Amino acid sequence: MISSGIVTVSYIVAMVLFILALGGLSNQEKASRGNWYGIAGMAIALLATLLGVVTGHYVILFVALLVGGSVGIMLARRVQMTQMPELVAILHSLVGLAAVLVGFANFMDSSMHLVGVEQTIHDIETYIGILIGAVTLSGSVIAFGKLSGRIGGKPLLVPGRHWFNLALLIAVIWFGRDFVLQSAAGGGMTPLMLMTAIALLYGMHMVMAIGGADMPVVISMLNSYSGWAAAATGFMLDNDLLIVTGALVGSSGAILSYIMCRAMNRKFIAVIAGGFGTGGGAAAASGDIDGEVAAIDSEETAALLTNAKEVMIVPGYGMAVAQAQHAVFEITRVLRDRKINVRFGIHPVAGRMPGHMNVLLAEARVPYDIVYEMDEINDDFPNIDVSVVIGANDIVNPSAQDVPDSPIAGMPVLEVWKAATTIVLKRSMATGYAGVQNPLFFKENTRMLFGDAKDSLDAVLRALASRK
Ligand code: TAP
Repeated sequence: MISSGIVTVSYIVAMVLFILALGGLSNQEKASRGNWYGIAGMAIALLATLLGVVTGHYVILFVALLVGGSVGIMLARRVQMTQMPELVAILHSLVGLAAVLVGFANFMDSSMHLVGVEQTIHDIETYIGILIGAVTLSGSVIAFGKLSGRIGGKPLLVPGRHWFNLALLIAVIWFGRDFVLQSAAGGGMTPLMLMTAIALLYGMHMVMAIGGADMPVVISMLNSYSGWAAAATGFMLDNDLLIVTGALVGSSGAILSYIMCRAMNRKFIAVIAGGFGTGGGAAAASGDIDGEVAAIDSEETAALLTNAKEVMIVPGYGMAVAQAQHAVFEITRVLRDRKINVRFGIHPVAGRMPGHMNVLLAEARVPYDIVYEMDEINDDFPNIDVSVVIGANDIVNPSAQDVPDSPIAGMPVLEVWKAATTIVLKRSMATGYAGVQNPLFFKENTRMLFGDAKDSLDAVLRALASRK
């Protein structure tokens, strides 16, 4: 056993490391160092807790650590980059489950003898902890189902759902009062269980009502909830590190939700209210767009690229599916060697998780200084000779600006069509995540390079090599 002073100091060091980790993750160059800070912080936190806080049941603890750790390593090794959001969603559900279990265990702990105001505060902590935990648990399970395609992406809109939610909220407050009163007299299990059931139902109903296009916000929102659930658990267990770590996760998730909402021009309350992203929206979704589709082959693409001075590459989810990032890097290298200025434009919700494209480009060793955020380069498109859209669709859809009743109306998009020529790489005329047809494909200066993005780019690379 180590003294409580050493535990406190270790916890403070861990907190500082967690803050450094978050700071590091905001920048690609420092991201890997940030990860190491996080790993070191967590190792210190675990060791200090094991050696200074835990007082028994070591066998159960080590077996649990071993089983949990092995499952975690196995899952992380096996998961594809494209399945990452699903993994994150299901991991959030575990944080929620832990908060619920700790809450009940804490409530049933007979060794605790609190009275008066202390008892009331502790009861409220337990109640709120279980409440947030249960919403996080069921909400995350549904989000996992939606992201992995096990549950349909369409929002489930129960008639009068806002009234239903209001009724659930009133019931939660009512049972909260009951719980605090009964707990002072030695009871309280019934209102606690009823509230847990209501919270589980609310979590399910909330995420079921949210449409496919809003799912990025939901993931970061559940991330935030899982942080607050952990912070509430910290209050229950009187553990400062858990409170601070939970608050860090909670607030960074909330900030990320805000950034996502801004990127999609959505109001947070409207996202939670649900019903968006039905893929319904009149003409935009039905495919009756005027204009012809002009296809292009790899030879012509190579010719257009070699004759360009300014090239802007816009990657999307399809680049991740095709694992085309290495081919993208090779083409970038060849073009830059030929003194062509190549830059990348990244939309905040390109792909299926925040930073998805940045991670893939970093993996392929694309230099950071030619990768730009949407806001930094969107005004540059009129000066671009060729913009190359690789497996992106919704994030380059002009109907977000032109069609007021489009499901993605108002979402900021990369204005690739303002370049002299736009080349779009995709396999078919299929719609993207939001299920909305894209007028970009029918524009006069757009050329479609059909096929799997990796195969197409490999062919372009060969054509470029033969054009030396
Ligand atoms: P999408 O709109 O989903 O479009 C991707 C396109 O890639 C599809 O139209 C598909 O067309 C093409 N594609 C798929 N596999 C391909 C392959 N092997 N080779 C070539 N093309 C391929 O993607 P986006 O433009 O990146 O937009 C992201 C969307 O996802 C937004 O609606 C966003 O709201 C949503 N979303 C984002 C996140 C985050 S946080 N980034 C999370 C969840 C949802 P074909 O089938 O014709 O090939």
